Amino acid sequence: MNIILLGPPGSGKGTQSTYLSSAYKLNHISTGDILRSEISDKTKLGLQAESYMNSGDLVPDNLIIEMVSKKLSLLNSVLLDGFPRTLNQAESLDNELALLEKKIDFVFYFDVPAEDLVLRLSQRISCKNCSSIFSKIDKEYICSSNCKEQILYQREDDKPEAISKRMESYISLTTPLIDFYDKKRIMININANKSILEVSKEIDGIMQS
Ligand code: AP5
Repeated sequence: MNIILLGPPGSGKGTQSTYLSSAYKLNHISTGDILRSEISDKTKLGLQAESYMNSGDLVPDNLIIEMVSKKLSLLNSVLLDGFPRTLNQAESLDNELALLEKKIDFVFYFDVPAEDLVLRLSQRISCKNCSSIFSKIDKEYICSSNCKEQILYQREDDKPEAISKRMESYISLTTPLIDFYDKKRIMININANKSILEVSKEIDGIMQS
């Protein structure tokens, strides 16, 4: 099974990915996490991507498509989190999957009102080592079991100006994908403005039907 999580910044894609990849044995491909790791390792790709990410712009399609293609050819049953994000990326993904004789089974679109997104992003904290995601309002921060050392931080792109830029990029470049996948009849609207557990249960209901 191959799944795409589509939705605005802060809609809970990363949070639900942790649950879904474990519950349904899916290989989680988070383009944001891969890019942050490349930046931390100071690789060529990381150096190319860093200024785009920190300012809230999308990283150019050619860099992202090449990065994801390498992973797709090696993995079965993927959970794509944060990819595709432009029509160009979606069309490239279709071509790549056709060559690999694979297909997307579901696109879950996470629907959350804009005002809640800004609040969620400003309250988010993450672990630099294992990419676990928390909110400042959580009672405790427990990382994944393979985390060697918890290093909590606020993402550079969760600062106010970058949040505005990310929302603008999402509206202009990513929302056309809603129509793109709706026409293919593989998109399912998820009310992601509920508790984390309720959102997981809504997706479980669809996966198990
Ligand atoms: P990326 O890391 O993918 O960021 P994003 O898509 O903007 O999404 P976020 O990670 O901000 O939010 P999320 O939906 O995962 O929410 P989360 O679960 O963390 O990308 C970052 C950057 O990398 C991009 O801006 C771009 O520069 C570049 N990039 C990445 N992919 C690219 C691509 N394909 N093309 C070009 N550039 C690319 O939750 C957020 C907060 O809400 C957390 O605090 C969480 O605890 C809380 N929360 C989650 N669910 C709930 C809930 N149900 N109720 C209450 N709080 C909740």
